Amino acid sequence: MEGILITFEGIDYSGKTTQAKKLFNYLKRKGHKAILLREPGGEKVSENVRQVLLSSGNTGMDPLTELLLYEAARAQLVSKVILPALRQGKLVICDRFYDSSLAYQGYGRGLDIKMIDYLNEVSVSGLKPDLTILIDIPIDVFSSRMRQNNKKKDRIEKEKIDFYKRVRDGYLKIARKEKKRFKVIDGSGEIEVVWDEVKNTVDYFLRG
Ligand code: TMP
Repeated sequence: MEGILITFEGIDYSGKTTQAKKLFNYLKRKGHKAILLREPGGEKVSENVRQVLLSSGNTGMDPLTELLLYEAARAQLVSKVILPALRQGKLVICDRFYDSSLAYQGYGRGLDIKMIDYLNEVSVSGLKPDLTILIDIPIDVFSSRMRQNNKKKDRIEKEKIDFYKRVRDGYLKIARKEKKRFKVIDGSGEIEVVWDEVKNTVDYFLRG
């Protein structure tokens, strides 16, 4: 595969979307053939599945249903957009990827990790990110950012704090297991401070 896949991960309110956008603009300015995608979404069918997943009206969704919908949105995005872009030598930035399912549905909801590993592998046809940036924030930062945010909460954001603690710990566990692929960056500081670290990490990686 010619292209490069960089993914961003982190719990809600970590600021990873802001950082992914900054990276996209930076790399475009530097002349890279970059595209920015998000999960769930990034493609027509996947965006429709996103609506189902995040609609706060869809209460009582079974954890397995939830997992399978995330995997379905992912399979569609990978086959229709990510793989073709990588084949064309593009640099793909994805705001969330399969590690989100491990962290949220595995460590958060308690579904079997091995099963999720398997479904992840199937839905991405064995593809692996070249670099994964985990923007990590402590739970007290998460709580205070959530309190300050006036936007209507989506279905996942309505989860309790303990859920997010499990998801955060899960992410750190995954990052420890895959030290080579992951770079963990503290997301609790100012946007520009975090950006400095993201930029340095990616510059270093691309020089590699
Ligand atoms: P976003 O807010 O970063 O766009 O992500 C949407 C929500 O979906 C967020 O709360 C995390 C959640 N999510 C999962 O639970 N599992 C997944 O596999 C993915 C991709 C996202």
